[in-house]
Amino acid sequence: MKSFGILIDHATKPIGIRLTIWYSLAVTVTLACAFAAAYTLLQNHLILGLDLQNASQFKSVKVHLSRDSDRDDPTFIDRAMRVASNRNASIFFYDIRNTRTGAVFLSGNLRGQAIPSARNGRVFAVKLDDVGELRVGEFEFEPFTVKIGTPLGQVTDAMDGFTRICLALLAAMMLMSVAIGFGFSRLALNPIRVISETAKRIHLDNLNQRIPVADVHDEMSDLARILNQMFDRLESSFKQIRQFAAEASHELKSPLSLVRLHAEKMLMDGGLSPVHEDAVRVQLEELARLDQIIEELLFLSRAEARAITLDLKSVNPAPFLQSFAQDARVLAEHYGKRFNHTHAGEGQVAFDDKRLRQVLLNLLSNALNVSPPGGLITLRSLVAGGLWCLSIEDQGPGLPASDYERIFERFVRLQPSVAEYQGSGLGLAICRSIVGLHQGRIFATPGPGDQGLRMVIEIPAQGARSDG
Ligand SMILES: Nc1ncnc2c1ncn2[C@@H]1O[C@H](COP(=O)(O)OP(=O)(O)OP(=O)(O)O)[C@@H](O)[C@H]1O
Ligand SMILES: [Mg+2]
Repeated sequence: MKSFGILIDHATKPIGIRLTIWYSLAVTVTLACAFAAAYTLLQNHLILGLDLQNASQFKSVKVHLSRDSDRDDPTFIDRAMRVASNRNASIFFYDIRNTRTGAVFLSGNLRGQAIPSARNGRVFAVKLDDVGELRVGEFEFEPFTVKIGTPLGQVTDAMDGFTRICLALLAAMMLMSVAIGFGFSRLALNPIRVISETAKRIHLDNLNQRIPVADVHDEMSDLARILNQMFDRLESSFKQIRQFAAEASHELKSPLSLVRLHAEKMLMDGGLSPVHEDAVRVQLEELARLDQIIEELLFLSRAEARAITLDLKSVNPAPFLQSFAQDARVLAEHYGKRFNHTHAGEGQVAFDDKRLRQVLLNLLSNALNVSPPGGLITLRSLVAGGLWCLSIEDQGPGLPASDYERIFERFVRLQPSVAEYQGSGLGLAICRSIVGLHQGRIFATPGPGDQGLRMVIEIPAQGARSDG
């Protein structure tokens, strides 16, 4: 059976996964950018806070340094700052210089280290040994240069905390976006899945099936409509082909019968020379072959049109096999080959014995044609697991695996050179059609030990029970 399904199933999985990855990446990158912007804003805001603190502290220091006293006295700054920095000693760091006298005041928490000047700007960050990073504001107040620093550690701690929270949020959002993206992609691809599944179900024998289309006009329903129109065209083409084969076979039958009748009459009337008599006999043989081909084609057309009704009887297949085996053995001996059969399991199988006999006879004649002289042909039958499994093995040359399906096509004959064998290449097509009418399947596999060919038939059985 040929499938006309549009095989897009392999592609839907990667698209679903790709959509999920794209969605998750888009969400994660957007969030990461938002967090990075928030990080910069917050950091700038906190540092600005420190700068404002330093500036406000300078205002208070300035008050003390403006006292009406001898500013050039080397002890002046010390005295002024003892009062000014009394309350904030541990928070602020002071480096005050009198540019006129060169007197220097360094707050105790600077541990003897001066705060270096910035090359550019009045606010800057500086790192001092044993003190850490400071945010420094540098102020000019004649004749003093005042540098006030505040530890940057608190800002760094706050920013580290912010980073940890952002990373945790980012990881959580990434997982959530994968789940949401997966859900979205399934939702978006669901119509494609429905189209794909329906299209896969459509075979030669159920070409009338169509993809369900919702009453909307979007890309998916348009695609389904286009596919349905394609199936309409396919169905009508196949109908025409079947009709042509059926009608042509039927129309050929009557003239052929007439030709055969004339030839038979010529033989019966006598008066033909021996040479002409031989020629008419050959004609009759060929006519018989042609007649059989036409019968077989008609059968296939009717089977495809479901115009063949099987005479199904639910029976134990053992007696049927026994009777077939008797004939098969005689036939095999006639051709100098051997035949053997085994049957196991019990159960009822519904089958049309005449049609199934026709199938087995074709398989047997194929096996006889390819078997070497004295070769063994084995028919095995097993009723088990709800199936009646029949196989015919031969000791012939077998076939390459690439031909296992091809031999079921009409008019395919792979060994036309076999002497005196005049098959039409329709036998296996008919076998498949008959087995199909039984809701079963037939296929070729390598023979035992990779020698010869094994043709396997599987037909549903009821109440099967295996002996072994
Ligand atoms: N057991 C087998 N071993 C090797 N090749 C086989 C075997 N059975 C079938 N074939 C190949 O498959 C082809 C098709 O077989 P099929 O029964 O359809 O046609 P046929 O036997 O040639 O003619 P027909 O059965 O119509 O008289 C055969 O011609 C043969 O080449
Ligand atoms: Mg055959």
